[in-house]
Amino acid sequence: MTAKSSAGNTIPRHVAIIMDGNGRWAKKRMWNRLRGHREGAESVDVVTEAARTAGVEYLTLYAFSTENWSRPADEVNGLWALLEEFLEKKREKLVRNRIRLHFIGHLEHLPAGVRKKALEVKRATEEHGWDMTLTLALSYGARDEITCAAREIARMVERGEITANDISESAISAHLFTAGIPDPDLVIRTSGELRVSNFLLWQSAYAEYYFTETLWPDFREKEFLDALRAYAGRHRRFGRTGDQVKE
Ligand code: FPP
Repeated sequence: MTAKSSAGNTIPRHVAIIMDGNGRWAKKRMWNRLRGHREGAESVDVVTEAARTAGVEYLTLYAFSTENWSRPADEVNGLWALLEEFLEKKREKLVRNRIRLHFIGHLEHLPAGVRKKALEVKRATEEHGWDMTLTLALSYGARDEITCAAREIARMVERGEITANDISESAISAHLFTAGIPDPDLVIRTSGELRVSNFLLWQSAYAEYYFTETLWPDFREKEFLDALRAYAGRHRRFGRTGDQVKE
């Protein structure tokens, strides 16, 4: 599950982040919320690089939830425009740094141009080898993900391909958007909110959580390394006793 970094710490294989606080960051400066999202996109770039350098293999970012569709149209449109710009600008860097781009969520709900750009950049990053997978959760909600998986599995039962007894935890995992990606070891949420907000509910069953007051646009390399250090100090037991873990 974990590896040792050159710094000697235990590095989580998969880090997932609920990026929160862009709006408050902008409000404090009496700026438009979109300026907060723009600065947040800069944090995405910096944290991606920091994660790759630290030896994290999977970084998953909650960029747009199913609930975010209910925000004002200007903000929603601004976020998609920002994402499209980010993907175009960072394409070469992702390829050069051997970072594969991946998506979870309902990409089919995105504006056509953004979806096209997303798939184009994803393909470009898949052409060569990669050391890290950057997954963006877009139009994503965990309850919806589990519901879709249940529906797919029910259809398999209806078609007689499997029986109800074949439905195992691994069968459910294999039907989630995250199929093939290991469960997160560490989930970070910024901005002082102590909620999981419908993010990777199934996959985070044994994850360590790290909450920080820092607003996402201020969350940069130092803050990310602080989170990794906190993780390295945790004792993960996966339901076992402390003595069993030491053995
Ligand atoms: C939460 O802050 C953040 C979002 C809903 C969007 C996240 C988007 C980015 C970080 C920028 C673009 C993303 C990429 C991948 C380039 P909030 O708006 O809820 O902040 P608030 O709680 O302070 O209002």
